[in-house]
Amino acid sequence: MTNEIDFAWPFAPRGHGFAEDVLDGLSRSEKRLSCLYLYDAVGSDLFDEITRLPDYYPTRAETDILSAHGEEMLGEEMLDGAGEDVALVEFGSGSSRKTEILLERAPRLALYAPIDVCGSALEKARVRLSARFPHLRVTPIVADFSQPVALPEDLAGRRRIGFFPGSTIGNFAPDEARGLLLAMRILLGPGGRLIVGVDLKKEPSRFIAAYNDAHGVTAAFNLNLLARINRELGGGFDLSGFGHQAIYDEREGRVEMRLVSRRRQTATIGGRDFAFSRGEAIHTEDCYKYAVDEFRAAASGAGWAPGRVWTDAEALFSVHELRAPAAGPGAIGSAASF
Ligand code: AVJ
Repeated sequence: MTNEIDFAWPFAPRGHGFAEDVLDGLSRSEKRLSCLYLYDAVGSDLFDEITRLPDYYPTRAETDILSAHGEEMLGEEMLDGAGEDVALVEFGSGSSRKTEILLERAPRLALYAPIDVCGSALEKARVRLSARFPHLRVTPIVADFSQPVALPEDLAGRRRIGFFPGSTIGNFAPDEARGLLLAMRILLGPGGRLIVGVDLKKEPSRFIAAYNDAHGVTAAFNLNLLARINRELGGGFDLSGFGHQAIYDEREGRVEMRLVSRRRQTATIGGRDFAFSRGEAIHTEDCYKYAVDEFRAAASGAGWAPGRVWTDAEALFSVHELRAPAAGPGAIGSAASF
């Protein structure tokens, strides 16, 4: 990716590590932590559990869409069993479960490059996929995809299809999302395509149910961030002193997750004290929702040509095809950086 692109995960100052970001985020008058840090090994397993909950519709809806239309999505690159010159690059691959639906429909795909911050999740996925698709080369990349990523050498010269499912794009504020889509377009190169999953705007009660699940798994997922601070930074959070909160802000078009202090208390991290009043919150995640046309407009703003759109029967979730213009005079960016 090029230097002109300047964006990062919300609330994770670029180039700073977990410790520094945590101390900085908790020092603000409105405390916040980056949702990027929710996904350590424990958090990734909990998120996996969330995706199997009856209340959490996005995974089911997106899986239905991929199962019904996966072949069309892979499209022309895979025509007539082709695909030897094609690489699939996934941004934030986690367990790579949805990818399997696409891989089943691309028997000759040469290369799969999953990018994720969680090394243990990547390794589990690599072992599973290598056993299931012996001809597929899997080259995991442990990285934060919102930062410049060095792609493996064997991606050079291949056509690239990006895969960005799960509505992870919703974790970025609209202007950040545009920056990310622009960076992806440049990484995937002229003529590249991106298949991106986007959660749709809908009746707020569906969001409330999905993000405050009856089994308490989302609460455990959110609270794991404090447990992680205790584990990795020697933090002194009393987990029973915080509660999970998820609300839908209709004006912002986003679900907001917080950890709310149940009482007045102090937590010590690395010798520093952080005071909480009763009811004071740490903002931990935003999940933006889009109408179909809103997302197409955002993609256009990042230089993509919006293509086909698929939704599930209940219109809960959408999968968009974006096309990068072919190289030519005046084309912005190139894939020549690796
Ligand atoms: C991984 C960002 C897509 O927004 O639904 C799920 C994260 N947080 N439950 C989402 C999440 C709480 C999830 N994304």
